[in-house]
Amino acid sequence: MPGRMASSLDASNLSEVFARRLAASGDQSLRQALVATVMHLHALVRELKPTHAEWRSMIEFLTEVGHACDERRQEWVLLSDLLGASALVEEVNARRPKPATPNTVRGPFFRADAPERPLGSDISLDGVGEQLAVSGRVQDLDGDAIAGAEIITWQANSAGYYENQQPDLQPEFNLRGIFRTDDKGRFHYLTVRPAGYGVPDDGPVGRLLRKAGLPLRRPAHLHFMIRAAGFETIVTHLYDGSDPHLEQDAIFGVKPELVCQFERAAEKPCWRLDFTFVMARSKQGVQS
Ligand SMILES: [Fe+2]
Repeated sequence: MPGRMASSLDASNLSEVFARRLAASGDQSLRQALVATVMHLHALVRELKPTHAEWRSMIEFLTEVGHACDERRQEWVLLSDLLGASALVEEVNARRPKPATPNTVRGPFFRADAPERPLGSDISLDGVGEQLAVSGRVQDLDGDAIAGAEIITWQANSAGYYENQQPDLQPEFNLRGIFRTDDKGRFHYLTVRPAGYGVPDDGPVGRLLRKAGLPLRRPAHLHFMIRAAGFETIVTHLYDGSDPHLEQDAIFGVKPELVCQFERAAEKPCWRLDFTFVMARSKQGVQS
């Protein structure tokens, strides 16, 4: 007597069979995420119909991405950023009411251990570049000042490099600092005007995307993280509105609310930037 017939698997039903196998057991949210991921992966295979050699080269690429990571470099984050996935994750989590300052991608160059500095300090420790005076205010949705808000800033230098990319050329913590707003919610410090930069293109991600013709430039910007008890933390950039690459930011981080005009001044500091950060209360009433 013949054994039980195995059901026939083909391109049309394999995705459904996978989903059914997971249906009875396991963590529900993990199962949902896995099923959705596999449905999209199967759809991709059906659409592209890769040859064995092409599929092997895709796996080799992902292997290389993993091997390119170390404590100074995160190639997976770069892949997520350059494919627009990091920006999309920000978008689907953006439930902040207007006129709160929107978040954008944090990027890979943040350091949590930057020093706190008094208001008015110059964070350019080597003084190389055109001096920029940054000032501003932190306020809530009603326009009331938030005193004691923490302003963490980091930026590239006038050649487009972060201090932790050039440990032998720039002083440690160059162009980084933590400030606190005064009792009127105001802050100010000195820095230099940053240059735009190319994202790292010497690894598997940069090589692949350059070959595909994707622009790998980032327009000039300053990074900020603003924290205050009871408010949602803002993680964002302020962009130089005169940068020619604003429309083609490699990591899709530009939002109109974050584009600023640096004002030219007759005397030093030669550039000025003033910006008001607007914070929304966190839903739990605690710092997020
Ligand atoms: Fe940056």
